[in-house]
Amino acid sequence: MGQRTETGIKGFDRLVQGGFPEGFTVLITGTPGTGKTLFALEYLYNGAKRHRQKSMLITLEQSLDDIRTQAKGIGMDLETLEKKGMLTLMHIPANALAPHTIDDIKKEMRKRKIKRLVIDSLSTLAINAPIYTPIKDITLRDIMNYKAFFSPPILGDFVVKRFIYGFLEDLKSMRCTTLVTSEAPENGSYLSRDTISEFLCDGVLQLTFESMGGQFSRSLIVRKMRGTDNDEDVHPLEISSKGLKLHDVK
Ligand SMILES: Nc1ncnc2c1ncn2[C@@H]1O[C@H](COP(=O)(O)OP(=O)(O)O)[C@@H](O)[C@H]1O
Ligand SMILES: [Mg+2]
Repeated sequence: MGQRTETGIKGFDRLVQGGFPEGFTVLITGTPGTGKTLFALEYLYNGAKRHRQKSMLITLEQSLDDIRTQAKGIGMDLETLEKKGMLTLMHIPANALAPHTIDDIKKEMRKRKIKRLVIDSLSTLAINAPIYTPIKDITLRDIMNYKAFFSPPILGDFVVKRFIYGFLEDLKSMRCTTLVTSEAPENGSYLSRDTISEFLCDGVLQLTFESMGGQFSRSLIVRKMRGTDNDEDVHPLEISSKGLKLHDVK
């Protein structure tokens, strides 16, 4: 395994032999409020500030002011890094998604030589896949290979899955280390709603927010990290005005 991309999040990198393997796409999944966005922001912030890696956030969920305020709450000043050109924040509201959106993102990444990327969330980007997938690109053979009846919901599902597959392939060719967030279903046997990104991504981090002895607490578990002898324990996750911190299980 080549170089490691340190997240700089306290207590995390030692769980994955020093960081994400360079060029990986890692999925961070969890129900709302588990800390996915904050984890992703700290990953970019540390990369831009300490490692001088050009970093970019693509958010489909929140306004940029919202993101900057949220970051400030855990002690990170994003604006200084933005002004230095080390960090780029891009908000694409779901109603502004267009057939050229994916190409626009790729163009920006190449232009700015982005080394660390976050997509928040892959779930929202992916459910809109029909927008970026012209119908002429879907061949009868694709549908036959899918071994399913040709009905609108199934076709929609097929388009989403094929989009995710292609998008993750594209990221791989751009050689940046990417963290994608995904809304986890509240229950069920899959980690992501689309049911395939956890298989396609190189790594999966699962965040939870559960009641333990009457008190709610957050935790993180590394579910998958290819090529890595990763830690397999559940680690309590603390969020404070000083940032994120992973603790050891007592
Ligand atoms: N400064 C802080 N101190 C303690 N907890 C915080 C702080 N800032 C945010 N949080 C907690 O983090 C949660 C938001 O995490 P977020 O990353 O937005 O979740 P997700 O993206 O998984 O929905 C908030 O609901 C809040 O409980
Ligand atoms: Mg979020």
